[in-house]
Amino acid sequence: MTIAQNSINENNRDYKLLQAQYAGLIEVTANRISRMSTLAALLHSSMPQNSWTGFYLCEDGELIVGPFQGPVACLKLRKDTGVCWAAVNSGKAQVVPDVHAFPGHIACDAASCSEVVVPCRDKAGNIYAVLDIDSYKYNSYNETDASELARLVEMICL
Ligand code: SME
Repeated sequence: MTIAQNSINENNRDYKLLQAQYAGLIEVTANRISRMSTLAALLHSSMPQNSWTGFYLCEDGELIVGPFQGPVACLKLRKDTGVCWAAVNSGKAQVVPDVHAFPGHIACDAASCSEVVVPCRDKAGNIYAVLDIDSYKYNSYNETDASELARLVEMICL
């Protein structure tokens, strides 16, 4: 069986399975924070290289920490600085193979080497948060991860 046929991608992640699991879990409530908390836990427990998995919430023009798994992180991210703000300001997912090479990267966790950040949009298309996933390893995430994670994030507001 090829990698594509059993839906496991080149980083050994089965996003179809994760999407099915997440769909089952979130059936019981549309509460956004409950759904974000559950997605952070699901992703953190199924991606062993993740050092931190969670959300930063857009609130009053700031990015403040939301539901997450992993060590304590910055409660607020300095405006227009780092990877999360790049995702908010561009409206696009950011795949960062080496965080140390990213200008302005905010090092909440010294163990973080690479990361992916995906904007979360409400039904009106406004960005209300970003999903931020950090890894102990370099080159942990690619564009496939970013697009599959975007599909999971979309489910928060369904
Ligand atoms: N990586 C983020 C900061 C948040 S922590 O890594 C959890 C950034 O540079 O935006």
